[in-house]
Amino acid sequence: EDATRGGYAHFMLKEIHEQPRALKDTYYGILHDVAVGEAVKLMHDADKIYVTAAGTSFHASYYFSLLMSILGKRLVIPFIASEYESYYLTASDKDLLVVVSQSGETMDALKALRAFRNRGAGVVAVSNVVDSAIPRESNIAVYTRAGPEIGVAATKTFTTQTLVLSWLAIAYAEASGSLSKSEADMLRGWLGRSGEVVGKIIARLEPVAKRLAEWFRSVGNAYYLSRSIGVPVAMEGALKLKEIAYIHAEAYPAGESKHGPIALVEEGFPVIFTIPNREDLEKLLLGNIQEMKARGAVIIGVASENTGLSDQLDYHFRIPDTHWILTPITHTPPQQLLAYYTAVSKGYDPDKPRNLAKTVTVE
Ligand code: G6P
Repeated sequence: EDATRGGYAHFMLKEIHEQPRALKDTYYGILHDVAVGEAVKLMHDADKIYVTAAGTSFHASYYFSLLMSILGKRLVIPFIASEYESYYLTASDKDLLVVVSQSGETMDALKALRAFRNRGAGVVAVSNVVDSAIPRESNIAVYTRAGPEIGVAATKTFTTQTLVLSWLAIAYAEASGSLSKSEADMLRGWLGRSGEVVGKIIARLEPVAKRLAEWFRSVGNAYYLSRSIGVPVAMEGALKLKEIAYIHAEAYPAGESKHGPIALVEEGFPVIFTIPNREDLEKLLLGNIQEMKARGAVIIGVASENTGLSDQLDYHFRIPDTHWILTPITHTPPQQLLAYYTAVSKGYDPDKPRNLAKTVTVE
């Protein structure tokens, strides 16, 4: 096992570090993949589009639905796979279900897929495992090329899923006329550079995450807040901390935090803000940061190195200035590292979290 960990203490750490390569491979894979065009055509022809998944893959799915709305001006209905019974009866043979599953074997996602197929709906799979059950039972499969992921907590499969799903949303938006070719090319260019950007982020922020973990090991709760396309990233950050460091963490759209969650905030309560590189969102988040600070919260910001909010942040994970479309790819790795180093400093094995399985093949 030591050899396959390639000198890293855990598979999770190795897989976090593999993200630059995984993103490059995934990018070049979809660049030449005819399935992408076929998937976009199915999206076009569909009456309604749904997207479903479990766990981390659901966060990527939720991001996809937001991008389709923002870039493609198209409503995509996201739902958690195990909740499919509340949705499938609204589907018909004119509709499309996108199923996202790194393993391609998650039973909840497979059940949702079969329920939609029985209604006649088309299915597009996004998976990391060629010819696994979900791609096999789909009309079209588009693959991430993250390579095998051993650590139970998903890392490189999440960032590569968001790359593929961003690509699909951009292609859809271009084909439907809501993005010009030059705008679409510009966004694809950012996706193409994402591997390189992530390499810099990991090199720069790993020591920062390690230091912060020395405090995080003693915290009992944390909030993860953001807005818009940052919300699924906050959800993923909170899930990582829960899964491997066993710290109670909740993610909310920041605007919602005043409707309940803020009641818990007192001196020293950690709040991690995912701050996408978009001026409108920074402006909105400033108010939320101030509300939290006024109650004594400690503010950790994952934000551009040039953000106007830096003087508001007690800790700042400095992200290079990139396009907001990369938010899940740029802003997630520091949060993976924070969860990883917190787990390690508490003496837990992040590769084998208690009560969790890498792939859940039962309902
Ligand atoms: C399990 C894993 C999670 C994963 C989820 C969905 O619960 O512990 O890390 O996100 O399954 O897995 P999938 O293979 O469908 O993406």
